[in-house]
Amino acid sequence: MASDPPSGEIDPSEQLSDTSHPSQLQHSSGETTRNQDLLSDTDSALGASLLESTTSVTDSIYSSIEENGRQYHSFRNGQYVLPNDEQEQERLDLQNHLFSLTLEGKLYLAPLDPKTLHNVLDIGTGTGIWAIDFADMHPQAKITGTDLSAVQPKYVPSNLQFEICDAEEDWNFSTKFDYIHGRMLTVCFKDVKEVFRNAFKALRPGGWLEMQDANAPARSDDGSSDGTAWVAWWDNLIAAGKKLGRPFGTEPPNYVRYMEEVGFVDVHVEVRRWPFGPWMQDKRMKDIGLWARANAIDALQATAMAVLTRGGGRTRQEVEAELVAVRKDLMSRDIHSYMPIYFVWGRKPEENSTRSSPEAGSPTGS
Ligand SMILES: C[S@@+](CC[C@H](N)C(=O)[O-])C[C@H]1O[C@@H](n2cnc3c(N)ncnc32)[C@H](O)[C@@H]1O
Repeated sequence: MASDPPSGEIDPSEQLSDTSHPSQLQHSSGETTRNQDLLSDTDSALGASLLESTTSVTDSIYSSIEENGRQYHSFRNGQYVLPNDEQEQERLDLQNHLFSLTLEGKLYLAPLDPKTLHNVLDIGTGTGIWAIDFADMHPQAKITGTDLSAVQPKYVPSNLQFEICDAEEDWNFSTKFDYIHGRMLTVCFKDVKEVFRNAFKALRPGGWLEMQDANAPARSDDGSSDGTAWVAWWDNLIAAGKKLGRPFGTEPPNYVRYMEEVGFVDVHVEVRRWPFGPWMQDKRMKDIGLWARANAIDALQATAMAVLTRGGGRTRQEVEAELVAVRKDLMSRDIHSYMPIYFVWGRKPEENSTRSSPEAGSPTGS
């Protein structure tokens, strides 16, 4: 991996080349309506299926829990450790831009045939920004986005609906999907293989599952991140996640094996990188590095606060104090750290396939 050899202070010209503020990144539906205008169960965009959803809709969906200065989901309270407030929603939209740069504008890598896409599921859809773009690009398909938090915009393409449900519970969708997508869910699930098992059952034969996830901890190839507060911070997050019974970003390297074990075939993996800062020589990677660093800085407190106070024995003040050194490391030109981003996709075999599912003992396992 080539890297710049500079040392010393940050060059003030190291600005994001795209001058739009992250909060101004607009998705293709044009309108983002957030906390003050959350979904209501009479919104037409929801479609009937919310009412038939796997989980009954309760008031908890529309309220939030305040903890250490951030807002968290109240439906299945405590399950997911990142906030769902406006600040976090803006970061998710910034991160969406980072994915777009990483995939050069593509939304997915699985070899989908748009003509055969009728039903698509986006689990852990967040602000729904990926699902909205996908729905715009595939008007013939019906897209469903699910999440624990009702933070999706009200005005969305007519072929998109959102449902509030828990992907860690049994899936109970009335239709089979042609494609299931999950992005940045690496801290969400106690048992991601169980989620893959549910996805396998929910796909039609021949359908694809694709996961797009970051792999913690941050690291460097030249040893420049060794012993830094930045890497120690990741070690602390991973240890605290373990105490809470949730792998914290460490599972993506196992995704290929898990998908194969639950019966997927043609499983492919592509690993790209998010360098933190503009230290790589390649112009495109410098740009990605600036966005990845902006995303990381915005995510620091959001990612750490709940996991370190709930699972790491820290107070809010202790977390804030630790973050000072971490921020400094992230801005240092001498630290050439990056995070691998895993894109893993696999296909549910056709019903007449002779290959049987390793776990299910039948061609499709459904
Ligand atoms: C880091 S965000 C990613 C959002 C979106 N996929 C994206 O890439 O913009 C993770 C999302 O997963 C949701 N989530 C976490 N656990 C979940 C669960 N068990 N079931 C459904 N959604 C979940 C969170 O509420 C959050 O919106």
